Formats: sequence, structure tokens, C-alpha cells
Amino acid sequence: MSAEKWSARARAIDSFKVMDLLKRARELDDLGFDVIHMEAGEPDFATAAPVAAAAHAAIEEGRIQYTPAGGIAPLRERIARYYAERYGIDLGPERVLVTPGASGGLLLAFALLAEQGRRFMMADPGYPCNAQFLRLLEARAQRVRVDASTNFQLTAELVREHWDEQTAGVLLASPANPTGAVVPPDEMAAISATVRELGGELIVDELYHGLTYGFDAETVLAVDDQALVLNSFSKYFGMTGWRLGWVVGPADAVAEMEKMAQNLFISPPTLSQRAALAAFEPESIEIFEQRRAEFGRRRDLLVSGLRELGFGIATPPQGAFYVYADASELTDDSFVWCWSLLEEDKIAATPGADFSRFDAERYVRFSYTTGMDRIELALERLARRIRG
Ligand SMILES: Cc1ncc(COP(=O)(O)O)c(C=O)c1O
Repeated sequence: MSAEKWSARARAIDSFKVMDLLKRARELDDLGFDVIHMEAGEPDFATAAPVAAAAHAAIEEGRIQYTPAGGIAPLRERIARYYAERYGIDLGPERVLVTPGASGGLLLAFALLAEQGRRFMMADPGYPCNAQFLRLLEARAQRVRVDASTNFQLTAELVREHWDEQTAGVLLASPANPTGAVVPPDEMAAISATVRELGGELIVDELYHGLTYGFDAETVLAVDDQALVLNSFSKYFGMTGWRLGWVVGPADAVAEMEKMAQNLFISPPTLSQRAALAAFEPESIEIFEQRRAEFGRRRDLLVSGLRELGFGIATPPQGAFYVYADASELTDDSFVWCWSLLEEDKIAATPGADFSRFDAERYVRFSYTTGMDRIELALERLARRIRG
């Protein structure tokens, strides 16, 4: 089949610019080099034992068949109850849709709200796939350049300033990838009020909730009952490969997305749903909280080490497991710099190019999804590189 046959829609999708770098990092691993991996967007911990045990039990039982498109009733109910336990928010299970990862949820949320040609406002830098989902739906991302002056997040003021007749709504991610920045509750309320006043919709990606350090993030649902909320078992619950997430929204919006999910996915992965029920058990939450504390220690070590070496980090990331460091004292092209960091010092880190249209060449994202000893070694190698 020749490439001219492929749809313009498919051809418009960008690949990750960093893919070649990741491939090279794996090659260097295979060649026996000791590569320090700080590029990954997933926790380095194994699936928590109670979750794995629940999956084994489900396999033993043997009935791994399709489920309802919105997820098995016990899981929808358990997620709803989690909102009561964690945030003090009362939800019925009819407001929860279980999805194949937050990725499935993002596709459904945008398919629900993004009319052809309309735009969703989002912070730049941000998670790159959002713009691609919108492209696939023949809608567009409206990227708004943010920097340290607003803690790399949109504000109500920025939303108002950039809103135009094409804007359908706003997507926030809090904590965000790649910056780890959190929208404070009062700003979240102000953004929600502004979006509603302007007649738009609000989607909030709360995927990194649970992975905040020294405080718990508040859900947007505390200030906006009509928002669509995305979440996932990938990050706090450490279940990336299980491909399971959820959306919370108004019951009629959830039913509409379920209709699309029936057609697109038939059901979220059954085994993962059965396993995920165990993720809410106290012994699992204890494991996740220990991991969160470990991430917090790694963050502190990495932030202080990078700062000493001349990287700019205006505010330490409040959540997720990334440090988006300003490397402009060290290079004027972070993409080239990351390549030589890999080839010469065997550290894999992600250049800003995939996250941003603006200032990308200044930034490098370091993931602290590797142990303290590896972070220390990375800082030693960086020191040698920078100080000679
Ligand atoms: C901000 C953000 N949203 C969504 C996703 C997709 O996550 P999932 O594994 O739940 O599909 C990611 C993955 O890294 C992410 O960083």
C-alpha cells in the first residue's frame, strides 16, 4: 500500500521525536553499557503483590470475557467510593466510566466535546498526545505558552486572554507532565468559573493524583461538578501495562461516552479490572504510599543535585515523577545535548521538544523513576560532564 493512500488525518499525527533516542538507549543497554534511564514515564516498581494476586485468582477462575463497556459494576462502585474516601465527594457509579487507560478516556472525552474545527486550550509545555487525539478528531489544540511565572500552568487570566470563538474548552493536567506543577484549588475554581462564563467545557487530567509530595491534590470536582475528570491506574497505582483508567463526569455524559466505548473498545481489559479491585485494599494503598514517599525522596535529591549543577528549577515539582529542568546555562539545544548525554555519559533523559512548541530547546525532562543510587550516579556523571 502506498503512503498516498493513507488519510490526511493519519499523516497529520506526529510521532514522538524522542523515539530514536529511546531506541538508542535500549541498544546501548544491549551492548552492555550501564545506561541510567531517566526518560521513562512510568513507575519502576513492580505491580503491587495484592493486585498481582487478584489477577492470578481471576485467571484461575477462568472467566476472562467481555465486560460492560463502562466497566464491571464492582469497579465502578469502588472508584466512586474512592472519591468519598479520598476527597469527601459523593458520586454514584453511574458517573464513573472505566476506560482502557486514561488514553482511552482522553479519546472519549475529546470525542464527546471536540467539534470539528474547534479548539481545546491547554498549557504548553504539556503531554504531547492530547494535541494528536484532537487532530485525529479533526479538532485542534490551542497551545498557550506558560512559564515559571504561572508555575507552568494556565490561569483564569490566561484562559480569558486567549479565549476566542473557536475555543470549545480547556484541558488542564494537575499535576502536569512534564513539569509536575499543580493548579492550586483557588485557581482551579477561578479557571472553572471563567470557562463556564465563556460557555466552554473543562476537562481535568488528574492522572498523577496521589503522587504529590507533602500535600494531597484536590480534585476539580470539589469546585466544578460538571467537569470531566480523567484518571488512571497507571501512575499512583503503578499499573501502566494493565491499560486501565477511568473518567468521572455528569451521568448523561458518561452514558454518551459509554455508547462510543461500546463501539470502539467493546470493554476495558477484563483481567485488569479484576486486578484493579485489589488496588483499593488497605494493604495496596500502604504499598503505594510507601512508593510515594520514595518518589518524594528521589525528587528532593534530584532537584537539589540538578540545581547545584546549574539547571534552573524555579519551583520544585509538586507532583508526578519528573523534573523539567532549564538547561539553558549548559546548552542552547537540549535535543543535541540529550543525545550527547546518552552517547557520552550513558544517561537517557527526554529533551523538551516533545512537550513544547516554545522554549523546547532550553528544557530537559528527567524522570525520577529510578532508584536513589542511580540518581546519585547520574548526578556524578552530570557533574563530570559539566565541571570536567
Ligand atoms: C498527563 C498524561 N495524561 C495521560 C497519560 C496516558 O496514561 P495512561 O497510561 O493511563 O493511558 C499520560 C501518560 O504518561 C500522561 O502523562
